[in-house]
Formats: sequence, structure tokens, C-alpha cells
Amino acid sequence: LAAEVRTEAAALTTPDAQEAFRLHWLGRKQGRLKLISDAWLKSAPAEARKPLGIRFNQLKQQIEQALEAPLATASTAAVQGIDVTLPGAIRTPGIPHPLLKTMQEIVQVFHHLGYSTNLGPQVETDFYNFEALNFPPNHPARDTQDTLQIAHQSSKPSRDRLLMRTHTSPVQIRTMVAQAPPIRIVIPGKVHRNDAADATHSPIFHQVEGLCVDTNITFSDLKGTLDHAMKALFGSDVKTRFFPSFFPFTEPSADVQISCIFCGGKGCRKCKHSGWIELLGCGMVDPAVFAAVTEERRKTNPADDTYNPERITGFAFGMGVERIAMIQHGISDIGHFYSGDMRFLEQFA
Ligand code: PHE
Repeated sequence: LAAEVRTEAAALTTPDAQEAFRLHWLGRKQGRLKLISDAWLKSAPAEARKPLGIRFNQLKQQIEQALEAPLATASTAAVQGIDVTLPGAIRTPGIPHPLLKTMQEIVQVFHHLGYSTNLGPQVETDFYNFEALNFPPNHPARDTQDTLQIAHQSSKPSRDRLLMRTHTSPVQIRTMVAQAPPIRIVIPGKVHRNDAADATHSPIFHQVEGLCVDTNITFSDLKGTLDHAMKALFGSDVKTRFFPSFFPFTEPSADVQISCIFCGGKGCRKCKHSGWIELLGCGMVDPAVFAAVTEERRKTNPADDTYNPERITGFAFGMGVERIAMIQHGISDIGHFYSGDMRFLEQFA
């Protein structure tokens, strides 16, 4: 009987069910306890009365307690008839996306060097994305960054036209307009280009930009910083080399290559048998960029001379997060990052 009371009590989810339960057990005329008492207790032989009476009172107490207890919730397994012998649903905890993980890793390397993080908008103006970075209007260098323009901008002056930022470099400008040197920042973020998707390209991808501006910053500082960063990311054995390159906003500019981490520099398919893998662009901040920043700062302080290139120098670099994550993990198709395929993502748990 005690087991019966227990099962019934666990299934009491409504006040009506509770009242029915009460009547069933405690009803004055037809309640089970009344019947038990009439049929058994009163007619029991004298020596059995005491133990029976004790059990009877325990049962009554159990019923009264069940009536005072709060109603069970409808999700109680007993109510829903859930088969508790079936294996439970496995809920795997979420994990950081592999791209975010790599982005965080890169950012951490620079945080340890005293850099802080800055962010900027993905919808940019032509001024920040191009003009202030020394890409004049209609300059052919703009063709190197296939730009996604926002519609209906032609009535605006060209510097105010909106576009999806093609790189994180506009945040260099935003930072320098807003604050004075020394500047040491990294800028992680999403960028957009009008590129057809293939195994190594995606119209939306991620970059981490770096900017270091102060007195006496030299190309050696740039080389030392990036050499350290590449060793921190790919292992202390990797070598770096700097190749002449061009960006409108840095002079001189360089592409940084690391010794191939797949073959150790001997030459393999991954490095096209060159022994080197190209990883990022960098260079010394072009004086034309400081000039654009100064012009902007003079709108609020006409005497501003904070970024006088006679006194102030700096370096900048930018790297693609997808490319670095693909090399780190030996991934051959960029599309895996965006597919949401659990079989791919689970490997990074
Ligand atoms: N913004 C450049 C690009 O997206 C990379 C870069 C950043 C180069 C900073 C030099 C300095 O291609």
C-alpha cells in the first residue's frame, strides 16, 4: 500500500487530481483507510492490533504528507510515461569555432607583447577603407580589393560612400584619429570582398591587423615582432623571410613568408616546392597615411601635430585568419569553416 501511495502521489499534477487522491484514501465513508480500518483493524486479534495500528498510522501520515507537498510538475517521468531505461539524450557542450580559436590565439600572442584590441565597423566609408589609406579615388590599386559597395550612394561625396570593408586597415585610421602615440593595437575582424568562393577564397573572411606607432619605430622592430609572432603561432623552429611587396599605405612594404611547416623547408606540394609559405602583408606606415590622419585631427584641433612623420614612425601588418587556421590544421578547403558540418567542427572539441 505504501508503494501505491508513493506512485500515485508522484503523479499529482493538478488540484483536481489531488482532491481525487484525498477522497480515494481519506474519504469518510468509502475511503480506503476507512475500509481497511473497518475490515482489518477492528477485527484483528489482540496481539496483532498494535503492529497493525502502527503501520496504519504510518500510511495515513504518508498520505497526509503527500497532500501537503507541492504538486508534481507535468514533466515528471511517471506522468509522461518516459521509459527511464532508454539511453538519455547526449547534449554536447558548445565549443569555440576553430576560426575564432585561431583568431584568439593570434590576438593573445600580441596581447603578451603589450598590444590591446581595437574593433571597427564592417560597413565603412570610402574615406577610412581607401582614401585615408592612400588609395586615391579611381586609383588602380583599388582594383586589388574587389569591393562590395552599398547601394544608392552615388548622391554622396565619394569619401562618404558606404561599402563593406575590404580589410581591417581602416581601423588603423580610426585609432590614430582618436588617440595619440604610443599605439600598439591588434584589430581582429570580419572583412568582405567581391570574390567568387573556391577552395581558398570566401567573400567573407577574417583578418587580424596590427599597428605599432611611436617615436623610433623601425623596420627591425617590425621584423622582430613578426618573427616572434610566427614562432609563437607555428613553433619555434619556423624561419621567416621578408619579400618586397606593395601596399599604398605602407612604404616600404613586405610579404612575410615562413619556412614550410609541412616539409621543414625542403619543398613539398603544400609550399609548391619552394620551401616557403606566404602568410601576411606588412610595412612601415606611409607618411601619406600620417598626413591624412593629421588632416582629420586638425578638424577639431587646427594646430595638431601629433603625427608629424619627422618624429613619429610606425609599422602595420595584416594577416588572414582562415589562411593561418588552414595551415595550422592542414585544411584544404576554406568552405569547411562555414558549412556548420558537425563532423568537421567536432574535431576541434
Ligand atoms: N590590408 C592589407 C590587405 O588586406 C594587409 C596589410 C595590412 C598590409 C597592414 C600591410 C599592412 O591585403
